[in-house]
Amino acid sequence: MVLERLKLRHFRNYPSAEIELARGKNVLSGNNGQGKTNVLEAVYLCGTGSSYRTSRDTDLIAWGENGFYAACRFLRRSEPLMVEVACSRDTGKSIKLNGVPHESSLENIGAANVVVFGPDDLRMIKGGPVERRRFLDTEISAVSEVYRRDLSSYRRILAQRNAFLKDSRYSAMPAARRDPALDVWDEQLAAAGARVIIKRAEATRKLSLLAKVAFRHISPDGTLEMVYRPSFYVGPAGRTDSNGGEVLRRWTEAFRRELEKARGEEIMRGVTLVGPHRDEVLFLVDGVDMRVFGSQGQQRSILLSVRLGELEFVTSEVGEDAILLLDDVSSELDPGKRARLWEYLNDRVQTIITTTDEKSLGDTGGPAKRFRVEAGHVEEVR
Ligand SMILES: Nc1ncnc2c1ncn2[C@@H]1O[C@H](COP(=O)(O)OP(=O)(O)OP(=O)(O)O)[C@@H](O)[C@H]1O
Ligand SMILES: [Mg+2]
Repeated sequence: MVLERLKLRHFRNYPSAEIELARGKNVLSGNNGQGKTNVLEAVYLCGTGSSYRTSRDTDLIAWGENGFYAACRFLRRSEPLMVEVACSRDTGKSIKLNGVPHESSLENIGAANVVVFGPDDLRMIKGGPVERRRFLDTEISAVSEVYRRDLSSYRRILAQRNAFLKDSRYSAMPAARRDPALDVWDEQLAAAGARVIIKRAEATRKLSLLAKVAFRHISPDGTLEMVYRPSFYVGPAGRTDSNGGEVLRRWTEAFRRELEKARGEEIMRGVTLVGPHRDEVLFLVDGVDMRVFGSQGQQRSILLSVRLGELEFVTSEVGEDAILLLDDVSSELDPGKRARLWEYLNDRVQTIITTTDEKSLGDTGGPAKRFRVEAGHVEEVR
C-alpha cells in the first residue's frame, strides 16, 4: 500500500492543499497548531472512512465553510485506488472508491490500512480498560469482517440482556432468578462472548510477539509482553488448531457458568458483570506491569512498539504493507531510541512523520521527503 497523493479542500485549517508523497519517509515540520496532525487525520480518514480524533464528521469542515473534500490516491497491489471523502453540513458524509459511491454501514471502509502513533496513544496505558479493549477491537476489526460481526452481535445481546436485568431489578428475587428468559439470554451471550474472547486473546498473542520484536529493537533493556486477561478464566484461549471447536465450547460453557454464579448480584445491580466487556489487556516488561510502574518515556516506547507490532500484524493478516503515521514522535523518545526507530523502519514502510523540530529527529537514515507546514499550507522543502 502506498499513498501517492493527497488533496484537501476546506478540511480543518486547510483552505486547499495538494501533497505528493514519497514511498519511504515523509517529514512534516512546523510549529504548534499549523496543521501537521490534520494532514495525518486526512490520510487516516481516506484509509478507514472516519477520523481517529473525532466521531463527528462535521468537526473536520473548515470553520465558516459548508463542507470538506479529502482525497487520497493510493496504490493497492500496484493498482491505483482513489478514495474521495466529502462531507457537507446538510447532507453528511459520502465516500467514493475509484469514482463509485461506497454504500456500507461498516465502521471501517477498509480502503487502506493505516496505523497511527500519536500523543493520544498514552490513553491506552493511562486510561481505563475500555481504552485497551477499544484498541484491540479496532485492530481486529480492521482485518476481520467476521470479528466485526461477532462483536456487534455480542454488543446487541449484551444491551438487550442489560435492559432485561434492569427491568427485573425490582421484581421478587427468587422468581427472577429462575426466569427462563434469562437462561436464553445467557446462552446467547455466552455463545457470542466466547467468540469475542477467543479472537481477542489470539490477536493479543500475535501482537505481543510482534511488539516484542519491535520493543527489543527500540528499547533493548527489557522484554515486552502483552497479555489478554479475561474477566474469568478457563485455561489457554485462542487456539486455532484442530481443536478450535473444543476451545470455543469450553469458553462458552465457562462463560455460561460464570453468568449463572453472578445471576443474583446481576439482578440486584441490573447489569451484566462478567464477559468480554469487562476484560483487560496488560503490558508487561520483564513481568512488571508498566501501567503502574512505567515512566512516561517507557510507556511511550511500549505504545510505539505496540503500534509497530500492529503494522506487522496488519501486513501479515491482509498481505499488504500498511502506512505508518507517526505524530510528534520525537517528544519523549530519547535520541538512542529515535535512532533505533529509524533503523527499524529502514524504508520498508511508507511513513509520514510530524515534528515541531526537524533537528530533533536526528538522522532518519536514508532520504526523506521534507515538507514545511504553516498556517494551513504545506510546501515541499528542497
Ligand atoms: N474545523 C476546523 N476549521 C479550522 N481550523 C481548525 C479546525 N479544526 C482544527 N482547526 C485548527 O487547526 C489547527 C492545526 O491543528 P493540528 O492539530 O493539525 O496542529 P499541529 O500542527 O499538529 O500542532 P501541534 O504541533 O500542536 O500538534 C489548530 O490550530 C486548530 O485550531
Ligand atoms: Mg499535532
